[in-house]
Amino acid sequence: MARRTIVAANWKMNGDLTLVDTMVKNLKTVELQDNVSVVICPSSPYLSSLVEKVSEQALNGAICIGAQNVSEHEYGAYTGEISTQMLQELSVEFVIIGHSERRGYYKETSTQVAHKVKAALNAGLTPILCIGESEAERATEQTEFVLASQLQPVIDEVGIEKFIDVVIAYEPVWAIGTGKTASSEMAQETHQFIRQFLAKANESVAAKVPLLYGGSVNASNCNELFAQVDIDGGLIGGASLQVEQFKAICLATKGK
Ligand code: 13P
Repeated sequence: MARRTIVAANWKMNGDLTLVDTMVKNLKTVELQDNVSVVICPSSPYLSSLVEKVSEQALNGAICIGAQNVSEHEYGAYTGEISTQMLQELSVEFVIIGHSERRGYYKETSTQVAHKVKAALNAGLTPILCIGESEAERATEQTEFVLASQLQPVIDEVGIEKFIDVVIAYEPVWAIGTGKTASSEMAQETHQFIRQFLAKANESVAAKVPLLYGGSVNASNCNELFAQVDIDGGLIGGASLQVEQFKAICLATKGK
């Protein structure tokens, strides 16, 4: 079955104009299969520079541009927010929605996340919908319940058919920035659960949704993770700020 493989870099509140330039120039030397997309999601002030550098290096199509967040509102008095239209104008194609840092620090609820996914889809942006359980939730065997309760409001809001244009990133909160990666077996098992959960609503859509793993992915563990049947790439934090590591992670998609 043809599913897209995606390696997405979430720079979070890190990086600078120099990194934008260096990363793009270095990625020019990386040859990937046609079914693989690389997405870079810098902080919003760097989006236009990234667009420029990608076009300067003639990498349009090879490197996609992603934002880290978007407002659920179309426009108006929402100081500090960024609208889907603003992202579209900048040639942004992807947007990370519902990252655990936004759910945790900024109290984004699953309902708000669902509204953001809807706004993104309506604007033709591809949402990278993040879901994941905390350490306590994993320890008390609530992982499946938590993932289902993060997915269901989005399914209810946009309808399962629209998931054909959605990318899901499973990021166990306990693995983010901690160096503790889920084992490839655990990640595969959870991805399988996510796909089966979607399949209950629509089997053919579920088979096509790219499921990315995120949480302390690096050049040493990416091969084993990406080898899993339901892992279609990764959402990379810390290691995506280091050019050589990120290149190695992109190359680990060979054979997917
Ligand atoms: P790390 O790769 O730094 O653990 O971050 C993962 C993440 O949160 C990506 O969105």
